[in-house]
This record gives sequence, C-alpha cells and structure tokens, in this order.
Amino acid sequence: MADEPGQPPALTNLSLAEQAPEVETKQATGQIVTPFDVSGGVDESGKLLPVDYNKLVQQFGASPLTPDILERFERVTGHRPHRYMRRGIVFSHRDLSKILDCHEQGKPFYLYTGRGPSSDSMHLGHTGPFEFTKWLQDVFDVPLVIMMTDDEKFMHSQKIEIEDAKRYTKANVRDIIAVGFDMKKTFIFSDFEFVGGAFYENICRLAKRITINQIRGTFGFNDSNNIGEFHFCATQSATAFATSFPHIFGNDHKKAAKIPCLIPCAIDQDPYFRQCRDYAEKMKYKKPSLIHSIFLPALQGPGSKMSASIDSSAIFMNDTPKKIKDKINKFAFSGGGASAELHRENGGNTKVDVPFQYLTFFLEDDEELERIRVSYEKGEMMTGELKKRCIEELQAYVVGFQERRGKVTDEIVAEYMRARPLEWNGNPNPVQPEKK
Ligand code: TRP
Repeated sequence: MADEPGQPPALTNLSLAEQAPEVETKQATGQIVTPFDVSGGVDESGKLLPVDYNKLVQQFGASPLTPDILERFERVTGHRPHRYMRRGIVFSHRDLSKILDCHEQGKPFYLYTGRGPSSDSMHLGHTGPFEFTKWLQDVFDVPLVIMMTDDEKFMHSQKIEIEDAKRYTKANVRDIIAVGFDMKKTFIFSDFEFVGGAFYENICRLAKRITINQIRGTFGFNDSNNIGEFHFCATQSATAFATSFPHIFGNDHKKAAKIPCLIPCAIDQDPYFRQCRDYAEKMKYKKPSLIHSIFLPALQGPGSKMSASIDSSAIFMNDTPKKIKDKINKFAFSGGGASAELHRENGGNTKVDVPFQYLTFFLEDDEELERIRVSYEKGEMMTGELKKRCIEELQAYVVGFQERRGKVTDEIVAEYMRARPLEWNGNPNPVQPEKK
C-alpha cells in the first residue's frame, strides 16, 4: 500500500519537526508497514525479508529507545526496565521523556492502548503488548483506557459485519481482562457503544483538520478506500485526548486538556498518532507520547507477523497444550543446521530461529536466555531441545492465561466497560521541579 507506484509517497505530510530524513531503500524495496499491511518485503530471489526495524524508526522519524532513556526510566520509576525494553522488543518511542517528567513531578497522565477485534480468540502476538501495558500501569499507577475498534474492523473488512465485530469485541475484552488489568484503573470501551458526547466532539475537532491528502500520504489510501476508512483515522486519535473521557478526567475542559497520554503500541500503529501529534497542539491539547514494539514473528519466521485468520501462523490463547506442542514442532521455522552433524559443526542461527525468538519474548530469566543462545549458536543445544524449552514456556503461559480467563464473568466484562470514575495514585514520591 504505502510505497506503490502511482501513489503519492508516504510520509510527505508530516510537520517539519517530524519529517523523516530520506532513507536508502535499496536492499528492502518491498518493505511495507502501515496499520493495514505489514511485510518485510522480498529480495531479488523472492525470499521473504525480515522487517528492518531500524530503517522503519528512521523512516517514521521516531527515536530509538537508547540506554540513556532506559537508565532514566529506571531512575525515575525505581523499576528495572521490562524484558521487552531490555531486549529491543520495545525499541523506539516519541517523547517518552515528557512522560517521565510527568511521573517524576507527580503530574497526571494516562495510558492508552487498543485492539481491533477481528477474530474470536486473540493470539500470542496480541497479548504480548497488553502484558507490557499492564506492567506500565503497575509501574506508573495511572489510568488506562483500552479502545476496541470494532468500527474500524467493520469498515476495513469485506467479511466482518457489525454483529461479528461486536461479538469479537466481547470475546477479546475477556482475553484482555485475563491479562490482569486492575479494574479500578482501567476503562475498556467499544467504539460502537461509546462514540458520542465529549469523545465524538474530539473526533470532529480532528476530522475537521485532517485532509484527504494527508491521509493518502500517511496511510497509503487511494480513491477506492471507503470514506469510513478515512474518517476512522480521527476516531482512533481522539482517544489520545483526556477531554474525551470526562468520567475519568472531569468536566473541566481546560484542566483535562493539559493531561497527556502514553500510547504503547506496535510500530504499525504509528501513522495514526504521528498524524494526531501534528494537530494536538493546534487543538490546544498535549501531543501523545508513544512507545513502540516490534511484532512477534509468525511461526513461519521473521518477515511476517502472526495472523488471526491463519491458524498455522499463530499460537492462539485458546490452543490446547497439545496443539501448542504440535504447532511448534510442525510449523516453527528453525535456525538450526540441516542435519544433526551440520548443526553440531556450525551451530544454529538464533536471529531467525522462531522458538528462540519466542523465548526472547516470553522467558523472563536473562541468564537462562543467554545460556540457551550461546549453547544453540555453538551447536551444543539441538533444535529439538530448544523447541522443547519453548513449548514448556508457552504452554505454561497459555494455561495460566486460560485459568484467569475462565474466571471472567459477563458482570466483570460489563464493569470494565462501564463509563465510571477511576481510582489511581500515581507517583508516591514526586520531586518538585525547582528542587531537581
Ligand atoms: N487499530 C488497532 C488495531 O487494529 C487498535 C488500536 C486502537 C490501537 N487504538 C490503539 C492499538 C492504540 C494500539 C494503541 O489493532
């Protein structure tokens, strides 16, 4: 979509400050990352290439998550950065330091994330970002809003009817609650149910400013996209303004206008918020800050992401332990040698090995992960052993998840989705700016 011939080049409508520098696109001309299309492209021989995240950060004009900012994160929050941050899974950001300033000084902010409900069960690639968001909520002790974009899925898909999208929303909200969000601090909403009032006013404030040209450039749409797809861009961004939620942030518009948010999201969602950031200040709101993650690779390997509509590409949160085992053994792309002998001789390639990649996402213990990496690369640990360790870890994670999900009743779902005041404490020991 984005860089097709005959389309205006993507990224031409950003403000100067966010205008990305020209980037070399020789090696991976086919790389496409928009909210609707993710592919690392193919090389001259037709081989699938992994997504080049460094290039993407550059192209999008975001900032890499450097050791400096991680160090400040730890200092300000008193928490060691999450394993995703330590391992480059959460790898870039926009204005994270502004959120750290707020936390340090005890000023209010909130977290915003979302999910486009497109199937009955979420998969591992979906729950990962929510796990990370829960961790941020625990660390910062702030309100979180979770947007279920059932309208987006309806407008973007030929197959999904409104009833389907609403059913997926209810099922996915159960999955999301099973991640463990604190109910007192979390509001989950469906666009079909919640659009209206102050939220709709913000959608319109944005919709009035965004032009068709800008959407074409940022999302790679053309004249065949329906008008709902164009308009939805304003809907997703309106959640980034605290004034959309008077039941959480109060009816004082001026006061709520000063409350910024931090959006943890996969990098493909960046185009929405890049556009939102271009208008926020013109609307007398704060620009949202972002923290981006890479995708969990599909079982078939780097260069693609898990897909809810392709069963063999993903581990679903309702897969049985046996199914998980079979999928890893049968489909997971291996970086091991072609034969046991070759493997012992040359070692395995952990960079493309899917079971190793999954352990990088899910295994908490840094030392064990490093032991596995060294041993596999040396050819001491065999592919079968690595897969076995990966299967154990994923089975334990999915079983724990299913136990929690089993306890989520209709009443609990309804309570998370009720527009109500939230309770939070923020930083218990803020520093006054002048004393810094
Ligand atoms: N568009 C996203 C999807 O299709 C859902 C979403 C809405 C979202 N708001 C978000 C994701 C904010 C991350 C952060 O899944």
